[in-house]
Amino acid sequence: MLGIEDLTREQISFILDQAKPFQEFQRYPLKKLATLRGKTVAVAFFESSTRTRISFTTAASRLGADTMALQAESSSLKKGESLIDTVRTLEAMRPDAIVIRHASSGAPEFVSQRLEIPVLNAGDGTHEHPTQALLDALTIRDRKGKLEGWNVTILGDILHSRVARSNIHLLSKFGARITMCGPAMWVPRELTNLAPDLHITHRVEEALEGADVVMVLRVQTERIHEPSLAADEYIFGYQLTPKRLRLAKPDALVMHPGPIVRGLEIDSTVADGPQSAVLEQVTNGLAVRMALLYHFVSRAPVDAPHPAKE
Ligand code: NCD
Repeated sequence: MLGIEDLTREQISFILDQAKPFQEFQRYPLKKLATLRGKTVAVAFFESSTRTRISFTTAASRLGADTMALQAESSSLKKGESLIDTVRTLEAMRPDAIVIRHASSGAPEFVSQRLEIPVLNAGDGTHEHPTQALLDALTIRDRKGKLEGWNVTILGDILHSRVARSNIHLLSKFGARITMCGPAMWVPRELTNLAPDLHITHRVEEALEGADVVMVLRVQTERIHEPSLAADEYIFGYQLTPKRLRLAKPDALVMHPGPIVRGLEIDSTVADGPQSAVLEQVTNGLAVRMALLYHFVSRAPVDAPHPAKE
């Protein structure tokens, strides 16, 4: 599971369908299955993370698998050599799959070419964050009844966002009309080459007009500084405020991958408002990751699992 770009629409729908029973399962009072008992999932994060790491670890443990955790600073593992040595060491302890987050685009693919076990990309550089796009798709499908054909607005630092890239690949396969909006330095023309029917505007009002889904990206505070861009300028130009959200469709869904910087990219009223799906995204992340681990680790047949039977 290295990225969304090479998946077909059918494969994506299959994963979302597989996630369905696991979504239901998150509501059970006892959240532990024995499906992957005796299996081990290595969770190797070469870049800091809170929610994605906890989500994968919790997904593995709710399936009954053990986890082997590696949390390293990217600085100590800059060389490809070190990365491969580290994952080979983990592999020598015989996990059944490895989940990798790395600051370099392409690191999970590099690893997957050298290991025998399944590799799941938990975010690589600015390249892809496939499980985030899948959990976003599950959230849209649930909240809006279908995944096909929505007007989607992506707001913020698109250039550096793996979340944006994976979502653009996924939603384009389902006929979305995507508008990318943000400061010119973060939304360059070349981004329209990522998929068909991509549009760019630097005017937030124009971007929000008629939107069915508004995806707000995290603004990395270290990328925001004068003279190129001051925080005030960003807030004035692009923050998703209640007034701006009213330009979108009345039932437009507001999404954010987290972590949220309140008062910068999104106003608290919007983040906590009825149109926000932020916490559902987190819960759906567990379901999608359980479905993927189940699929890759158990190498089970295509029948969806039935948690109630466990
Ligand atoms: C994102 C990431 O790390 O790519 N967070 C996440 O996984 N939920 C988004 C971000 O940190 O900007």
